[in-house]
Amino acid sequence: MARIVGMVTTSHVPMIGKAIGAGLQQEPYWKPFFDGFDGVHDWLDRVKPDVAVVFYNDHGLNFFLDKLPTFAIGAAETYRNADEGWGLPAFSPFRGDPELSWHLIESLVADEFDMTTCQDMLVDHAFAIPMALLWPNASPWPVKTVPISVNTIQHPLPRAARCYALGQSVGRAIEAYPADLKVLIIGTGGLSHQLDGRRAGFINKEFDLMCLEKLVSSPLEIARYSIATLIEEAGSQGVEILMWLAARAALGESVRKVHMNYHIPISNTASGVLVLEPSES
Ligand SMILES: [Fe+2]
Repeated sequence: MARIVGMVTTSHVPMIGKAIGAGLQQEPYWKPFFDGFDGVHDWLDRVKPDVAVVFYNDHGLNFFLDKLPTFAIGAAETYRNADEGWGLPAFSPFRGDPELSWHLIESLVADEFDMTTCQDMLVDHAFAIPMALLWPNASPWPVKTVPISVNTIQHPLPRAARCYALGQSVGRAIEAYPADLKVLIIGTGGLSHQLDGRRAGFINKEFDLMCLEKLVSSPLEIARYSIATLIEEAGSQGVEILMWLAARAALGESVRKVHMNYHIPISNTASGVLVLEPSES
């Protein structure tokens, strides 16, 4: 049977992709951020996942404001990223796992999550940059992937509790998958940031650190927040913490913290990375 080996949640801001492309990892500005992934690489070397289910939010590459599904899932053989106007590198194509995708789709729809199914899907920086952070210079990528996109740009957004329930449903579906696979859950976005308006540049360290702690011990306390409160506390784009909640929910109730890094600022965002493993008690 398939088994969830753990979760990595990370920031995905486009400037990280530019830094990777330019090889700036050891520059003083970037070093504290990229060094935060050493512990992730050690853990990935140890657990060696076969496939990654990635909760991320598309920013307009595959979906745009004219047609924006609340929840969408890829069911393709291959996913590619593309130039979004940030000057980001084009990464190697990402291998899909259509069989696992369709298992998740069947299970999620039966569980009343009416997913938009995408047999052709571009994946933007929110998917591609975390892959490059987890597996630097990998070609081909060491894992197959299933992208799950959550709308965070066209209001109304799905409630935090709904995203948490989506993650729980994905977790149950994976555990019921008959293939002998080690599955990594990835969630990308945040942490606190706001790109526009009067609060442009807003960062809330206190709120971020509280969330990082609650994600381990009591994630339902964050899942109870309204979207309005999340935006107030984390900024209008900080609402991407919804992806961290969905990823956390897939792991089940009890988890063990393996690694964490929090660094301010990267671009104009608070950056974070968190690794959790399921735990028996
Ligand atoms: Fe984003």
